Amino acid sequence: MAKVTIDGISIDVPDGTTILNAARMIGGDIVPPAMCYYSTLETSGGYCRTCIVKVSKGSDKDPRPMPKPVASCRTTVMDGMEVQNITAPDLLEARAGVVEFLLLNHPLDCPVCDQAGECDLQNLAYNNGNEETRYEFERREFEKIDIGDKVQLHMTRCILCYRCVKVADQITDGRVHGVINRGDVSEISTYITNAIDNDFSGNVIDVCPVGALTDKTFRFKSRVWYTKPVDAHRDCKKCFGEVRLWYKGEEVLRVTGRKDQYGEVAEWICNDCRFDKKQTSDWVIEGPSHIRKDSVISANHYETLRSLKHVTQKQLQGALPHGNKVTLGQGALNPNNE
Ligand code: SF4
Ligand code: SF4
Ligand code: FES
Repeated sequence: MAKVTIDGISIDVPDGTTILNAARMIGGDIVPPAMCYYSTLETSGGYCRTCIVKVSKGSDKDPRPMPKPVASCRTTVMDGMEVQNITAPDLLEARAGVVEFLLLNHPLDCPVCDQAGECDLQNLAYNNGNEETRYEFERREFEKIDIGDKVQLHMTRCILCYRCVKVADQITDGRVHGVINRGDVSEISTYITNAIDNDFSGNVIDVCPVGALTDKTFRFKSRVWYTKPVDAHRDCKKCFGEVRLWYKGEEVLRVTGRKDQYGEVAEWICNDCRFDKKQTSDWVIEGPSHIRKDSVISANHYETLRSLKHVTQKQLQGALPHGNKVTLGQGALNPNNE
């Protein structure tokens, strides 16, 4: 075990734990943002630098501070290590610089971007970015390429986090895309125009932290904050079949994996569940999804579940903790008021 102190809070963690995961074990505001690390994808992390922290004491054995900020998703803790994140103004300034770099070529066309409202880059820029850009040059442009009938690629919004490449490598049975070229002309491409099409290819949409890879079957149907997320499952032969249905009225507009507080999906889902099962009758409804209070999706979140008349009282009640009662159409359905 190793003892690490992050922003004054100490925790004992197993040897080999990264600083980022130690911070996640503590939880709260001291957890650094992470745009490329994904706990369930091997070798993810180390690309975006948003998770940088200041190591003010290396360890009990060697207390010297580290000379520059380190990527917390790739740096393991040492016994006695002391780390600063939100308590170090110079570190926060450095992170603002990282965000500025990430946004240099970003179109920031949020009003017409399907990711708006659930975009990690929006959150990151809001929490850590500067109000104005100093960049005066032309932004990058790319030839549009078609990667199939399920997934839309907007290369201008890509931050080259490599998550979709890891998903294709580790979750699907044949990667046909990757990052080509170098430097500021790097891009996600299938190289020879090719469709990304196999049973689990839709997961690239869920892991993409920005609006570079979006669901073609959902595009422009609704802003995400007008939809109501509901957890549901079905007996699927290809995946666990545990998903999130996004309702507008009685219509299921899209199906996604269920994301946790760090925006990571708990279980990968197959393309059948994601793209071909959009009837309520295809699913066993578990209940309203837990949405973070600070998410725009939580605005008027459960107020209008009354429109889900096909979701029975029994189905909803079964999804709630013991002792919590809820009545369809009564308003706030979340017993914890979250
Ligand atoms: S990817 Fe995010 S920040 Fe970029 S345009 Fe879309 S919503 Fe805005
Ligand atoms: S397309 Fe999305 S997931 Fe893939 S590298 Fe770009 S930002 Fe990351
Ligand atoms: S999350 Fe650590 S470098 Fe991207």
